[in-house]
Amino acid sequence: MNLLLFGAPGTGKGTQSAFFISHYKLFHISTGDLFRKALREKTPLGLKAQSYMDRGELVPDSVVIALIEQVLVDVKSRNGFILDGFPRTLAQAESLDSLLNNMGLKLDKVLYLNVPEEILIERIVGRRVAEKSGYVYHIKFNPPEKEGICDKSGEKLIHRNDDKEGVVTQRLKAYKEQTAPLIEYYREKNILFELDGCGSPKKVFSRIQSLM
Ligand code: AP5
Repeated sequence: MNLLLFGAPGTGKGTQSAFFISHYKLFHISTGDLFRKALREKTPLGLKAQSYMDRGELVPDSVVIALIEQVLVDVKSRNGFILDGFPRTLAQAESLDSLLNNMGLKLDKVLYLNVPEEILIERIVGRRVAEKSGYVYHIKFNPPEKEGICDKSGEKLIHRNDDKEGVVTQRLKAYKEQTAPLIEYYREKNILFELDGCGSPKKVFSRIQSLM
């Protein structure tokens, strides 16, 4: 099963991916996580991506596609994969199709999580993350037991630079202009499944499971 979790920033792609990993053992590929890891390690890729991410803009297609080419090499040996945050432009979607085609693979389903914009902003601005382990919290919807500390890893929780209100507006603009057109692209291929992304994370996952 090869899936794409699709949706605007803050729709819950990372949160739902965690359910997928534990239920279906899928190989999780998040370009946002890969860029943040590269940035923590101060690699050339991370430093190149940083200015775009901090401004809430998309990293250029050539950089993202080169990264995905390296990561996809590993998927053939896995029990399916779940893409999170990639593709985000038409050029990325077309490159993905051709890379998968060359490997004898294809996307089976695109799960489009739909959430109204005012809820997205509240979710993003209130998100807190444990940088190294990747655990995600929300100050209102999913607070840690001890404020500012990850329950599982004990790490200090941070507020992502691009989760501050001014940058969030730019991220949503980039989504509307460059990423939302992919909804039609996948609808035409008959692999798009639209889901209501509101309600508790478990409720959203049970809606997803009914499509599996
Ligand atoms: P990326 O990290 O991919 O960010 P994103 O797509 O903007 O997605 P988010 O991480 O903001 O949200 P999410 O949908 O995963 O939501 P989450 O589950 O955390 O990308 C960051 C940047 O990297 C981009 O802006 C760009 O610059 C660059 N980039 C990455 N990929 C790229 C690409 N392909 N091309 C070009 N550039 C690229 O949930 C959000 C919050 O809500 C959390 O606090 C969570 O606890 C809470 N929450 C989740 N579900 C629920 C629920 N059902 N009810 C209540 N709260 C919930």
